[in-house]
Amino acid sequence: MTVNLKQIAAEKAVDDFVRDGMTVGLGTGSTAYYAIKRVGQLIEGGFKLRCVATSVQTENLAKECDIDIIDIDEVDHIDVTIDGADEVDPKMQLIKGLGGALLREKIVASISKAEVIVADESKLVEKLGTKGPLPVEVLIFGHEKTRIALERQRCSAVLRMSDGKPFVTDGGNYIYDCRFGAIDNPFFLESRINVIPGVVDNGLFLNMATTVIISSADGSVRMM
Ligand code: A5P
Repeated sequence: MTVNLKQIAAEKAVDDFVRDGMTVGLGTGSTAYYAIKRVGQLIEGGFKLRCVATSVQTENLAKECDIDIIDIDEVDHIDVTIDGADEVDPKMQLIKGLGGALLREKIVASISKAEVIVADESKLVEKLGTKGPLPVEVLIFGHEKTRIALERQRCSAVLRMSDGKPFVTDGGNYIYDCRFGAIDNPFFLESRINVIPGVVDNGLFLNMATTVIISSADGSVRMM
């Protein structure tokens, strides 16, 4: 039997962190998928949960699992959010957004008492930026100018495409995937990126994760 690493990490997160009566944030992506399925099982078993989605994709999956989604503005906080990540460094700093949902994910994370990240060990890096790009969500208006300003921060910024057209986020914006290579000071980089006019948000999730659950090829799971 092959071990599904994403499923192991996601189900452990739900089993360890979700309790009856909680308000739960549902992440986006192929690992969060298994957490959403598990939350659906808990509700089927009688749990009363209030759930907030981090993307339209997650909202649709939740509906398939008979999970009612409430608007984020109906809650004043979220007890626990379970979400994936693209890169995780030893200090639990993250890059997110390859799935395109970084903006809603960050808003949900910002009001979550616990932000539990689920991933397999392939997401672990010594320094952020080593494996993939940093996604940056930008306004469509003037996005070429925003790209030029992003590239002044010493990266190559590529407009994300989907089916031959620019990918449009749930918020109606574009994404530039910015390759910086190893990022020495993510806090400084974030402060530089976020002041560029046209930048809506970026995929650095700094000091947001409260727990990271990592599954390994031998089927073991560890928590950071
Ligand atoms: C979605 O925008 C992303 O932040 C995802 O959380 C991230 O890409 C991880 O996705 P996977 O679990 O599919 O790798």
